[in-house]
Amino acid sequence: QTLPRLYHQNVIDHYNNPRNVGSFDKNDPNVGTGLVGAPACGDVMKLQIKIDEESGKIVDACFKTFGCGSAIASSSVATEWVKGKSMDEVLTIKNTEIAKHLSLPPVKLHCSMLAEDAIKAAVKDAEAKRGKINDAIIIAI
Ligand code: FES
Ligand code: FES
Repeated sequence: QTLPRLYHQNVIDHYNNPRNVGSFDKNDPNVGTGLVGAPACGDVMKLQIKIDEESGKIVDACFKTFGCGSAIASSSVATEWVKGKSMDEVLTIKNTEIAKHLSLPPVKLHCSMLAEDAIKAAVKDAEAKRGKINDAIIIAI
């Protein structure tokens, strides 16, 4: 119930009140889905971003994480941080920044790495889909 005191208040907050838990339709052409796992512990994180077609910015994000408290907190922070940014901008989000924000201890660094990887995977998926959409338009012309 109560987490050990080595956890920073931000972790406990994001663990108890995770932001943006949920799923978007992965077949939505404006949704990018990143699914990543940590082989060492078996934890899995799914992070999704919703792209505004016109501006190309991320207008919404959500996650589902089957993992430890630090992984849940990291994905919650990640969904907060990506909103309102461009896909290029969010590629610069480093796991070390998330870990610092949550004051994760060194043994929990890989949990924040899952979040960085999930953002990158979601962007890659969204870009691939947008690429396809552009191709389709070119073909149509
Ligand atoms: Fe939530 Fe900073 S405490 S993103
Ligand atoms: Fe593996 Fe946290 S212990 S993601």
